[in-house]
Amino acid sequence: MKKILICFGTRPEAIKMCVLIHDIKSAGIDIKVCVTAQHREMLDQALNFFEIEPDYDLDLMKSNQSLNELSSKILSELDKILSIEQFDLIFVHGDTTTSTICALAGFYRGIKVCHVEAGLRTYNKQSPFPEELNRQLTGRIADYHFSPTVNAKENLIRENVISENVIVTGNTVIDSLFWTKQKLDNGYQNKNILLLETIINPTKKTILVTCHRRENFGEAFVNICKSLIEIATQTDVEIIFPVHLNPKIQEPANYYLSGHENIHLILPLDYPAFVWLIDKSYLIISDSGGIQEEAPSLGKPVLVLRDTTERPEAVSAGTVRLVGTDMEVIQNNVNELLNSSDTYNKMTKSYNPYGDGRANMRIINFIKQLT
Ligand code: UD1
Ligand code: UDP
Repeated sequence: MKKILICFGTRPEAIKMCVLIHDIKSAGIDIKVCVTAQHREMLDQALNFFEIEPDYDLDLMKSNQSLNELSSKILSELDKILSIEQFDLIFVHGDTTTSTICALAGFYRGIKVCHVEAGLRTYNKQSPFPEELNRQLTGRIADYHFSPTVNAKENLIRENVISENVIVTGNTVIDSLFWTKQKLDNGYQNKNILLLETIINPTKKTILVTCHRRENFGEAFVNICKSLIEIATQTDVEIIFPVHLNPKIQEPANYYLSGHENIHLILPLDYPAFVWLIDKSYLIISDSGGIQEEAPSLGKPVLVLRDTTERPEAVSAGTVRLVGTDMEVIQNNVNELLNSSDTYNKMTKSYNPYGDGRANMRIINFIKQLT
């Protein structure tokens, strides 16, 4: 039986990998978990909710550290583990610096690399930066590729990856979302959900906002803030913005947006509270990758604060729209969704382009047959 090491380091990786870890363990497969802790508090929120205790915690987050500093620390610290414990497979997820560097560390030690959420592409190295190149590099390093959609698999085939090594599984985020929804439907409560209940006004339309991408730092984020201020002048809307802990977002968000009526800046939410909030929202404005995958499942429209997306399926389906960071474009799109029930209804059809909640099972079936 293969011995597996699963590596991740940020909030979205944890959300998308923790239920997979439980499922792999339930299948009787020998696995260990290593977190780089590229994120700290936001990673721990997810680990706590999903009840995962890592076997190794590299504890590498340092505020405002450069990607090169982080990368070099991941390589050297992970290598210490790989030099004392043997693994047959190393699992990484998506497009973060953690995933690419862990894949490289595994490759250098002769370990086969499994890439979950493989094959997403914009083919624009600057957008998203550095995630697009991270994905391409991890795609070159990986031996086995678990693609969320057929479209993602086709990207890899065009890059000459061997077809049998690319398995279309759906996105594991849908497994995690269903897992979490079931808990919420069974009455799961916590302090963040109780807090949100005091903030949400059922007579108003809740707009959920998140933003964290590097290409939106600076002027683009100021434009986003100014648009939100303008949108919040409408008395029937309430904006809730759980602000990412990156100082490059925290500082301008607090500077521009605090003190405005109808705008609530809050700390990042744990996953069940965030899913609860998506469910209660009228619409979402975000530059997040994961949210573009979750919201269509819950029938919520997303206006994406980016010019490109590596997740075209929901855009084609009409539940997600790319609006970029131009103030007028953001405001016009929000106003259209607030005022046109026709547009709104078209964007709210519940749709699951990213999976059926059985991605983990397909991944496990594949690794079980590896000799
Ligand atoms: C990272 C990933 C990005 C992913 C995002 C998810 C890279 C290059 N970027 O971006 O692909 O979409 O995570 O959120 O891998 N911080 C804290 N506490 C935390 C988390 C972050 O204080 O729990 C602060 C720290 O100052 C940290 C900074 O945020 O240095 C930036 O974190 P970093 O992981 O470099 O970038 P993200 O924008 O979070
Ligand atoms: N999320 C969360 N709490 C928040 C904001 C987001 O749990 O306050 C979840 C969200 O549901 C999604 C993931 O975090 O599963 C997305 O993370 P992020 O936007 O940081 O990264 P990306 O998906 O863009 O890489």
